[in-house]
Amino acid sequence: MHDTLSRTAVPETADATGPELLEAGFRLVGAASDVPMLEGRRATVDGQRVAVFRLPAGFAAIDAHCPHRAGPLYDGLVADGCVTCPLHNWRIDLASGRVAGQEQVVGVHEVIERAGQLYVRLGASACDRGGDCDHAGEPAAGAA
Ligand code: FES
Repeated sequence: MHDTLSRTAVPETADATGPELLEAGFRLVGAASDVPMLEGRRATVDGQRVAVFRLPAGFAAIDAHCPHRAGPLYDGLVADGCVTCPLHNWRIDLASGRVAGQEQVVGVHEVIERAGQLYVRLGASACDRGGDCDHAGEPAAGAA
């Protein structure tokens, strides 16, 4: 399964919003068309793994791995604004990062679509907050 977004060159847009977003701290992660409705794809932003989802109301981005045992959230089922981890079914709200019935919170990141491209700006991740993450040894996207 193709689960990874691949970066392309910064598109030349009529209003040049791409470069402005980059200056504002956003990073180009790939084409919006590569994320099907109610699915997720993984991407790397400044060395951090994120999962980008397409929802009926737009896009959402959270940390790529589950705070339980590092399940691949980008492969989870998406419904009602939440993703369900494919390993043990923890349910994570894509807007808040809250895990249903747990104390853990997943990092939420900003994602913007411009000219068919997706840009992500990192928020505080679970790692930054001293969360319980054990995914540091995963190979870089596209390396496997
Ligand atoms: S790794 Fe996600 S619920 Fe266990």
